[in-house]
Amino acid sequence: MPCEPIYFKRDAKRFFCKDEFIRYFEKKVMKTINKWRMLRRNNKIAVAVSGGKDSMTLLHVLYKIEQKFPSQLVIVHLDEGIAGYSDIAGELVKKIAEELNIPLYSASYKELFDFTIDDIGHMYKKKKMLAPCTFCGVWRRWGLNYLALKAEADRLATAHCLDDEAQTILMNVLRGAFKNLLKLQLYPKKAPNIVPRIKPFREIPEKEVVLYATLMDIPYVDIPCPYARFGQRWDIRTWLYEQEMQYPGTLYNILSFHRQLLESFKNIEMQEEVKKCKICGYPSSSDICKAHQLKQYLLESKED
Ligand code: FES
Repeated sequence: MPCEPIYFKRDAKRFFCKDEFIRYFEKKVMKTINKWRMLRRNNKIAVAVSGGKDSMTLLHVLYKIEQKFPSQLVIVHLDEGIAGYSDIAGELVKKIAEELNIPLYSASYKELFDFTIDDIGHMYKKKKMLAPCTFCGVWRRWGLNYLALKAEADRLATAHCLDDEAQTILMNVLRGAFKNLLKLQLYPKKAPNIVPRIKPFREIPEKEVVLYATLMDIPYVDIPCPYARFGQRWDIRTWLYEQEMQYPGTLYNILSFHRQLLESFKNIEMQEEVKKCKICGYPSSSDICKAHQLKQYLLESKED
């Protein structure tokens, strides 16, 4: 019996029925993992799970893959301290960790940096200062690495999808941050005190992650972060969404442009001295890492 089409993939110009799409999605994740040599046998993978659709789906897919390959999963989760958002997400992550019997490592921004994102949100509304997203992004990066190190993981898997990757590339272009563009890794890279990151969804559009989550009945917290619209990423996301609608394939093209750029520069050594942060000891380009510079900035802004 012919299957009922449920999804038209515009850039590939083809229809998928439910089973076809599920198979396509899982195969695409495996292909991405293999293509960028993300995993090795017996790797301990720390999966960053926020409770949102992307990360809950990543956990689901890696859990499925893990049944076939010798590897081990742990969950790492950060509580941003956003009332009506972080608490609900935290409960769901705890529940799923128990159900799947996966060890959970969690911490809050309050414990790690003495401020919640709500604290920063209040300060931001009172005076002109950096937007909450700036802190959230940098602290998330630091905090997930901290938890993955604590879990003694070999890899840190995040649920960044094609849309996120394209947004990040474009944001770096708009900010003139050329070095950051070259630092966006394709392959997991080892460095002292850094757990190599992998992004198994980096070639999958966000709408396909949502569709897979819906078809597989994956539970997730469907509440948008109340501070998202204050960040530059929000505007870029909206603009890119329109571009992709009008010109299918735009997101893939941005990723492909970035890959070509990295290939052109692969023989050029980056002349950047790697220091150790005087506060946490993690690698940093300056004496104090960005995460602790931001904490310092908040302490000073509080006193003003
Ligand atoms: Fe939540 Fe930026 S702080 S999206």
